Amino acid sequence: MTKKGMKGIILAGGTGTRLLPLTAVTSKQLLPVYDRPMIFYPLNTLIKAGIKDILIIVAPDHSGHFLNLLGSMFEKFGVHISFMVQKQTRGLADAFILAEDFIDGESTTLILGDNIFEDDFTEAIETFEKGGRIFAKEVADPERFGVVEFSSDHQVLSIEEKPAHPKSSFAIPGIYIFDRAVVEIAKSLIPSARGELEIVDVHKNYLAKGLLDVRVVKGAWFDTGTHESLFEASQFVREHHFARNFHPMVNDAIQEFNAEFKKIVSLKK
Ligand code: TTP
Repeated sequence: MTKKGMKGIILAGGTGTRLLPLTAVTSKQLLPVYDRPMIFYPLNTLIKAGIKDILIIVAPDHSGHFLNLLGSMFEKFGVHISFMVQKQTRGLADAFILAEDFIDGESTTLILGDNIFEDDFTEAIETFEKGGRIFAKEVADPERFGVVEFSSDHQVLSIEEKPAHPKSSFAIPGIYIFDRAVVEIAKSLIPSARGELEIVDVHKNYLAKGLLDVRVVKGAWFDTGTHESLFEASQFVREHHFARNFHPMVNDAIQEFNAEFKKIVSLKK
């Protein structure tokens, strides 16, 4: 049983410019990762972890497509999905300002819509009590990422953005857990040089208060923001029969959706 009240947010807006022209007429998170749209992967991660109240934040251009696909898919399975439009790409931390009413004083797990995890986050979410919890994944090229250094008892010691000389080989992937204070922290942030409210500034705020810990992610992790990584993710999903990693309820919902869709198509003929 997941802690009562934990909310889930999937950040599925953005511009996806690195994936052009794939993202010219649809959203990055609706592109296929082997046999299903990308959005199902972060959705599965949250549902597997027991989260039943999920907000999907989307960009204005293709928002209707998300609604058509997911609008009523999970309701009968007891998972409530709602949507919100982010009019401008104001940064990852903007999610907490937009979602203030949805968060409603509870703790929140935020996952980026283009992040694919093999791991199960149930334990990390169930044991979360207060402050912030980020994750760490060992990589060969930490200088390309946000890097976290931590103690043997999982307390964060330092965080650095794309450091030339990383203090650890652990990158920070796109899933984070924060307590209710995150809304006020996000509101207090000043946009960075690129004009965005940076998630790393949220981390640093919790770190300065001694309230940031970390869990190491097991298994594969993909950030599908580039053509190469999107292709690698599809290949991995196919080779590892990743559908088996999905919660049976998510697979069932997809099957039902397909059957319904085929029925409607045949009625139209
Ligand atoms: P990014 O990959 O950093 O940005 P992007 O998706 O716009 O891609 P590109 O850099 O190629 O233009 O975003 C990570 C995730 O967060 C992705 O799922 C999009 C989402 N996102 C938002 O929903 N709103 C935002 O303001 C930003 C910056 C990202």
